[in-house]
Amino acid sequence: ASLLNRDELMFSYKGILYPITICSAEAFKALESFEARSDDVILAAYPKSGTNWLRRILIDLIAISQKKTPGEEGSGNAEKPEEIPYLEVGDPEKYERMTKLPSPRFMATHLYPENLPTSIFRNKVKILLLIRNPKDVATSFFHFSNGVAIFPSYETWDDFFTDFMSKKVAWGCYFEYLSEWNKHIDKENIMTITYEELKENRALGVKNIAAFFGIPLTEEELQLVVERSSFRSMKKKSEKTHGTIGSILFRKGGVRDWKNLFSEDQNEKMDKVFEEQVAGTKLGKMLN
Ligand code: A3P
Repeated sequence: ASLLNRDELMFSYKGILYPITICSAEAFKALESFEARSDDVILAAYPKSGTNWLRRILIDLIAISQKKTPGEEGSGNAEKPEEIPYLEVGDPEKYERMTKLPSPRFMATHLYPENLPTSIFRNKVKILLLIRNPKDVATSFFHFSNGVAIFPSYETWDDFFTDFMSKKVAWGCYFEYLSEWNKHIDKENIMTITYEELKENRALGVKNIAAFFGIPLTEEELQLVVERSSFRSMKKKSEKTHGTIGSILFRKGGVRDWKNLFSEDQNEKMDKVFEEQVAGTKLGKMLN
């Protein structure tokens, strides 16, 4: 069984693959000179680690901090500043347009830190880093890849596993991603949260995130954000918030679904790579 259309759907930039339909080398070039502001806010997460979950929480926290009642999210439009657009997605002119946006600007990114504009680190932009168990990330990525047109389709899980383990999926290798981000997490402008801890205690996670951004919350506001970020609530509204990909995006929303896909051999292989590259780091320990 061979994989389908990977070469047509992805291009390589600095050794990492990206989907050709939403990213471009021209935009990546333009991004290099992007001037971050010290009051920008960045949500950093590898694909499928719960980016849209954290976007939901952040969008609602922003509304509360602006004394608005959290409303419905729009269409998942990557251009709309109020929906926390992906920094690296879009046309090269978008960075010029972003200079006209009022502060604070919120953005999400799947990029390795070394591929982010250096001004982000120089200006000590606040970064919320979200990480997830790599086996669940791979599982989620496989299903998503087969469900949406921007990513290649795979005939078998085994084919996807091979690509995931050899840096042939979009946005690079998750193990490299983790070890690169690990170099930054001790900085005071970075907060790390795991998918699993948020899953276990959403209220605590939301509280910690709000505290990191200095947003005071009443008990009612906290409950509202917690309720609106439940998997059920987000899935129910997914067509409204994300259009047709909504039903694919909010798939299971749980932990350890990897057990339904991984063979014993694949499990051992991933454990070995994790052990060699990530386990000893702080991020690795958070995921253990
Ligand atoms: P699964 O495919 O395992 O269900 P991303 O937004 O980075 O693409 O990540 C998508 C993953 O986050 C999906 O995982 C999705 O179900 C999960 N997710 C989204 N909203 C969630 C929520 N409110 N609670 C738990 N998981 C959520």
